[in-house]
Amino acid sequence: MKHFLDVHKTPPEALREMLEAGRAMKHARAGRGKAAPDDAQPLAGRMVALIFEKPSTRTRVSFDVGVRQLGGETLVLTGSEMQLGHGETVADTARVMSRYVDLIMIRTFEEATLLELAEHASVPVINGLTDASHPCQIMADVMTYEEHRGSIAGRKVVWAGDGNNVCASLLHAAGQFGFDFTFSGPETLDPDAAAVAFARENGATVTIARAPENAVAGADLVVTDTWLSMHDAPGARERRHNQLRPYQVTADLMAKAAPDALFMHCLPAHREEEATSEVMDGPHSVIFDEAEYRLHAQKAVMRWCLGV
Ligand code: CP
Ligand code: NVA
Repeated sequence: MKHFLDVHKTPPEALREMLEAGRAMKHARAGRGKAAPDDAQPLAGRMVALIFEKPSTRTRVSFDVGVRQLGGETLVLTGSEMQLGHGETVADTARVMSRYVDLIMIRTFEEATLLELAEHASVPVINGLTDASHPCQIMADVMTYEEHRGSIAGRKVVWAGDGNNVCASLLHAAGQFGFDFTFSGPETLDPDAAAVAFARENGATVTIARAPENAVAGADLVVTDTWLSMHDAPGARERRHNQLRPYQVTADLMAKAAPDALFMHCLPAHREEEATSEVMDGPHSVIFDEAEYRLHAQKAVMRWCLGV
C-alpha cells in the first residue's frame, strides 16, 4: 500500500519521481482550459474521497480539480457531516470507506487520526494536513522553487515565524532533497525536534538564528506562515502576535536575502501580520505559483499512490 503520509516517510526517489511527473503534467496541459481533461486519464473509473475536518480552499479545490483532470470522480466530505464526527471510530470509517472509494485524502487534527485511518484502510491515504505536518504543501513548494530557480539541493532556505506543521514538513524536505534550513523564530515556537533531527541525520545543515536579519543573510528562499494555525487555541492570538512580530517578513528583511531570493507562503495569509503586502505582492514573491503547483504536485502524488 502506497500511502502518502509524510515527506520523511516517503523514499526520496519516489518524491523526486512525483515532482518530475507533476512537472510533466503541468507542461503537457499548458494553454488548455482549467477544466480540460489531461490526455492520459489514469483515474478513469476511480473514486477519490476528500475528507475535511478543518477548513480549506487550496487543498479542497486543487485535489478536486486534479482528480477531474485525471478522469476520476470525487466525494468531498466534512468530518462533522460524517459519522466520524459523531462517535464512529476512525478504524471503522477507514474500513467502510475502503469499500466505496479507491483513494482517501484527509485533513484532520491529530496525526494519530491520519495514522489510524491509514492502518485500517485497504486503499491509499494521503495527508492533506494535520496539526503536525503538511506534506502536499511542501511537494508543491519544492516544485515551485525548482521551476523558478533549478535544483533546490544545497540552497539556503529560511523559515521565519512559528515552527508549525508546514515548517516540520519543510524540515523533512531539507533531509530528503538536501537543502540547508535556517529557523528564525522565538524559542517557545521552535520547530518539532524530531523533524530537526531527521533533517540533520539526512545531511542537511539546520541552523537556529533568533535574529531574523542574521537568519536571512544570503537566503535563496524565505518562507513564512500564519502566526496562529487552525489547531492553535484562538486565545493564544495576542501572546503569539507579540512573540512573532519581530519575525514579520518585510521588504527590508527580504533585501538582506540573496538578490534573486524567492518568497513563499502556503496561504491563507494574514496580510500585514506574518508578511507585508509589499512582500507578498513584490518581486520575490511566488505565492500564487505555489498555490497553483499544489494541483500539479498532488496529481502526481495520487498517481504514485495508485500506481497509475
Ligand atoms: N495551503 C493550504 O493548504 O491552504 P488551504 O487551507 O486553503 O487548503
Ligand atoms: N499552519 C497552517 C497552515 C494552513 C494551510 C494551519 O495549520 O492552519
